[in-house]
Amino acid sequence: MPDLTVIESRCTLCNLCAADCPARVITLPDSGLPQYVEGGADRCYICGHCEAICPTAAISVDDPRLDPRTYPETGDDAVIPPERLGAYLRMRRSVRKYRQSPVERETIEQLMDIVRYAPTGINTQSLHWLVIHDTVELRRLTGLAVDWLRDMAKSDSPMKAWFDFEGMAGRWDSGEDPVCRHAPHLVVAHAHREALTAPADAFIALAHLDAAAPSFGLGCCWAGLFKIALDQWAPLREALALPDGHVAYYALMLGTPAVRYHRPPKRNPLNIAWR
Ligand SMILES: Cc1cc2nc3c(=O)[nH]c(=O)nc-3n(C[C@H](O)[C@H](O)[C@H](O)COP(=O)(O)O)c2cc1C
Repeated sequence: MPDLTVIESRCTLCNLCAADCPARVITLPDSGLPQYVEGGADRCYICGHCEAICPTAAISVDDPRLDPRTYPETGDDAVIPPERLGAYLRMRRSVRKYRQSPVERETIEQLMDIVRYAPTGINTQSLHWLVIHDTVELRRLTGLAVDWLRDMAKSDSPMKAWFDFEGMAGRWDSGEDPVCRHAPHLVVAHAHREALTAPADAFIALAHLDAAAPSFGLGCCWAGLFKIALDQWAPLREALALPDGHVAYYALMLGTPAVRYHRPPKRNPLNIAWR
């Protein structure tokens, strides 16, 4: 159960905490400090907006489920001008050639520490992460995905219109990796199949990971083929060994790029309807 703490000497009774609360569970009584409404603790999203918006750092929401670590105030320093952000995001590329040196676990943890700030429905934060850090294990899993490619090559699946399964299996046999591109690592976002909004949460968080990786000198690629294999090939699902009831929503390859892109590519024109 969450707990609201208000430091009386700091609170100016400005009401910003109550006004910003998305669950409407904070009230400012006529005489007294901000507090939960009746039953409010049960309905609190524990999103921390009350804490984040308070100009005098007077209020905090705590819960045994929360990581107690906090970050210093950044003020306007956290704002990236549009030209810089645009230049950064436009230069993000899907990386398909990686250095074989592993990325330190500590670096991946720093990256994932940013990713956990991605939005989740009702702040449920129900995502789990599986980082296949051991490259040998990733090759074993990729080999199982290649077994699926071979099976598909023999089938009359309509997917053959898009994918050359036989060609990809042959490339694997000759030392290439058309599935995970010889990435040293793979990051899988998973959650219990009944977790509310988990599919959207997973895509959003993975998109944050994809976007944040270049800031660490790292690169990602969405592992679409691996994901389809995972959905269709039981031996791969069993080898991934997620907790009971969990679904892998998607996976990203991760590593240090072995190529450098010098300029953003062209894109289709924007397709916006205004009303
Ligand atoms: C959902 C999704 C699945 C993808 N699957 C693969 C994949 O299996 N293999 C691959 O090499 N690239 C994959 N990609 C990368 C796309 O081909 C790439 O994003 C697109 O060509 C644009 O290039 P860019 O990301 O460098 O801008 C995938 C991208 C997305 C969004």
